[in-house]
Amino acid sequence: MSDSVIAISQTRIEQLRKRRALNELGGGQERVDAQHARNKLTAHERVRILLDQGSFEELDAFVVHRSNEFGLDRQRIPGDGVVTGYGRIAGRLVFVYAQDFTVFGGSLSETHAAKICKVMDMALKNGAPVVGLCDSGGARIQEGVVSLSGYSEIFLRNTLASGVVPQISAIMGPCAGGAVYSPALTDFCVMVRETSNMFITGPSVIKAVTHEDVTFEELGGAMAHNARSGVAHFAAENDEEALYLVRRLLSYMPQNNLEDPPREATDDDPQRRDLALNDFIPDSPNKPYDMRDVLTRVFDTGSFFEIQEHFAGNILIGFARLCGRSVGIVANQPSVLAGVLDIDASVKAARFVRFCDCFNIPIITFEDVPGFLPGVAQEHGGIIRHGAKLLFAYCEATVPKVTVITRKAYGGAYCVMNSRHVRGDIVYAWPSAEIAVMGPDAAVNVVFRREIESSADPEGTRQSLIRDYTERFATPYVAAARGFVDDVIEPAETRARLVASLEMLRNKRDANPPKKHGNMPL
Ligand code: HXC
Repeated sequence: MSDSVIAISQTRIEQLRKRRALNELGGGQERVDAQHARNKLTAHERVRILLDQGSFEELDAFVVHRSNEFGLDRQRIPGDGVVTGYGRIAGRLVFVYAQDFTVFGGSLSETHAAKICKVMDMALKNGAPVVGLCDSGGARIQEGVVSLSGYSEIFLRNTLASGVVPQISAIMGPCAGGAVYSPALTDFCVMVRETSNMFITGPSVIKAVTHEDVTFEELGGAMAHNARSGVAHFAAENDEEALYLVRRLLSYMPQNNLEDPPREATDDDPQRRDLALNDFIPDSPNKPYDMRDVLTRVFDTGSFFEIQEHFAGNILIGFARLCGRSVGIVANQPSVLAGVLDIDASVKAARFVRFCDCFNIPIITFEDVPGFLPGVAQEHGGIIRHGAKLLFAYCEATVPKVTVITRKAYGGAYCVMNSRHVRGDIVYAWPSAEIAVMGPDAAVNVVFRREIESSADPEGTRQSLIRDYTERFATPYVAAARGFVDDVIEPAETRARLVASLEMLRNKRDANPPKKHGNMPL
């Protein structure tokens, strides 16, 4: 090879390196420093932490925007404000995009959107999850409707990918206006405390329209969406923790709807008995206990991973492992509002049941529920419609579904919480279970009102009737006599019985009637 040919190729390699360095630097050192000063990492830094070391393969690093408006012709930055590509998490393929706030505030242009759409299309074609790291001022204002078309293309892909590959969003900066609808369409949403916010209209517009004073954090910060709106599932302390949470979440999921969830090695004995569970349920039916303690004792050590812990605390949802296999958990929480089902709890659990059903993750339900929450606010807020979502989700789900009734299973809530009648595969009850139309107090007041009123000792009569009702009806044996409960088990053996039932259900096949889709009561 002649010297001049070598010189040309070396020059070209130098040019390539320079362009790559430019892409890595995004909007320039000053803006990178500003990002760091706000406790935010850059897009490239985030992707490197998210993915297994050295696994990131960047795509479209040289894409630039096409707009010449408002001086944009003089500012073409390679990558155009979003880092996209693929890599590995725990050795498994994942597609990723990370918006780069240092380039036009991470705003979304036509080409920025096209880059995101490209990785979403590849994820769908190759059956792998998509993780989006959002940090953006929204639609690139200079591009107008072209930017809006880009958002629409993303929303369409989010919807088509839903139930085919897992989609996770991490909000790591601003996410405003219609842009919020992409994370909202994904399966799980992680937010970072203090540095992220999501809202349709910001504080200044709200001030102008409704005269309310509110800060960014109060309006759409991590805790606003974790504890109040239910839009987000996790509130991370910082970028690193948010990225760790995404990695952990994915560890429970299959790559797509055709795969089974991954199995992790565990040395936790499948037959492990936990005698403490035999004394766990308080003697008084109204005394609370923390259902989390039951879950952590039953499932593989350290495997319970709670989701949406700050929202609708009266129901717990999360993943865990049993003999290394992923399961989804829905559990009433007696220590919050006695574990009652209300609007927020119903919606929270319904969406999770549907996620598990999409991705072949067995659902285990722990039940201690006094019923649906009474009250005008709940009725007028639509508890009928929202409660029906949870009922619909359980009825529709065809994955293995096992229930453990630890204490109360009353009224409509008994039917909803994966009873055998809604295709629960196995229903266990602890000896402390009370399964009936309503609790003894309420039942006696309705059925024996006349006897109590006409008695010489109304309170004594009432108490005696309650004792009688409790003995006869508030037990698991009436349901077990009918086969609605498959077995009454010693609490200590719950783990072993769940292991056996899931093993039996491993090849379960069930289907719903052919249809385009059901009409869930949204
Ligand atoms: C173009 C934008 C931009 C945008 C920010 N920038 N948002 N450029 N289009 N939407 C640029 C800024 O000009 C600035 O450029 C840089 O990004 C950083 O922005 P700052 O304002 O300096 O940062 P900060 O003070 O942190 O404020 C961040 C912000 C603010 C709160 C996000 O920039 C902001 O309010 N932006 C506009 C948000 C917005 O209204 N977007 C449209 C929402 S409606 P320089 O060169 O100075 O560094 C929408 C519709 C989507 O998105 C519809 C989908 C269906």
